[in-house]
Amino acid sequence: MKNKYSILTGITPSGSGEIHIGNYFGAVVPFLELQKKADKVYFFIADLHALTTIQNKEQLQKNVENQVLSYLAAGLDPKKVVFYRQSDIGLHPELQCILNNVTPLGLIKRCHAYKDKLQKGFDEEKVNMGLFNYPILMAADILMYEADYVPVGDDQRQHIEIARDIAGYFNQAFGQTFKLPDIYNVKATARLIGTDGKRKMSKSLNNYISVFESEAKIKEQIMSCFTDPNRIRSTDPGKVEGNPIFIYHDLINENKEEVEDLKQRYKAGKVGDVEVKEKLLKALLKRFNGERARYQELQADPKEIVEILRDGAKKAREQAEKKMIEVREKIGITNKYSFCWQRDQRWRRRY
Ligand code: TRP
Repeated sequence: MKNKYSILTGITPSGSGEIHIGNYFGAVVPFLELQKKADKVYFFIADLHALTTIQNKEQLQKNVENQVLSYLAAGLDPKKVVFYRQSDIGLHPELQCILNNVTPLGLIKRCHAYKDKLQKGFDEEKVNMGLFNYPILMAADILMYEADYVPVGDDQRQHIEIARDIAGYFNQAFGQTFKLPDIYNVKATARLIGTDGKRKMSKSLNNYISVFESEAKIKEQIMSCFTDPNRIRSTDPGKVEGNPIFIYHDLINENKEEVEDLKQRYKAGKVGDVEVKEKLLKALLKRFNGERARYQELQADPKEIVEILRDGAKKAREQAEKKMIEVREKIGITNKYSFCWQRDQRWRRRY
């Protein structure tokens, strides 16, 4: 691991973007840690990538809004992080278009994401080209910014390897241009069990506890949480291990004495589920009090977000333009007919 390094990562707004406690502790917290350590951090919303699955204007708008609000409210520091939307930098698809030409078909055909889709019985003839070309756009996202490390989950490992391969093919054809990114090993965070007590917490399974939704909604989510199925009356001794409500208490409730007391009483059959749940709700509202207030504040003032995203796009574009000038020169698109020479004798264009 280098001493000084840059990292880049993106999230696709294909889901609703509303954060539940599983996302928060599994993805957001590790990201907030990372932003402190790296010298330079690029973080973007991969809205163009989302088009492979979301083809509904309102839904895409909503997902992006939720994601932006959630990350900012959770503590993404826009002074430290270059935070932008992929679609605000028109150079990503331009670079993708160029990279298409050094990318062998076979490389992309071997992609898990694509192969999985076919395995699920999806008709190959109907796979959209956005999905098929997904890894090439992703390579453009990464290579543009000369990132040292790309922190991603295991499911994205192959995409980073493909980005390295594509960088290698380009460098071979046109000379050293792109840095080969490394995967930043994001510790595999244990999956958080859902409120059904069976499957991983997920929005689509509706077994989640939200961070930013209304108090009433969160209360409903907590109250319907599965606990110990063998405990019929509150005077029955209950099981604490593996009981989702206590897993959440351990995660969220900062009052460890209270948690210990609840556990003891639960095991002894001296506390009802309702009290344990009400205390969890209280603990959650306390734990996320600042974040929830910030969420409301940001939501009420789109101007602040516009400023943040404009500033992020401006900084991202500076790097992207620099890289694209180099790429265009290397491939020979820049020539004596290129217009608009700057004082530094480099070809410039307004993007
Ligand atoms: N494919 C990534 C995901 O779904 C999102 C993404 C797009 C990304 N471009 C990227 C991640 C570049 C890291 C680097 O999670």
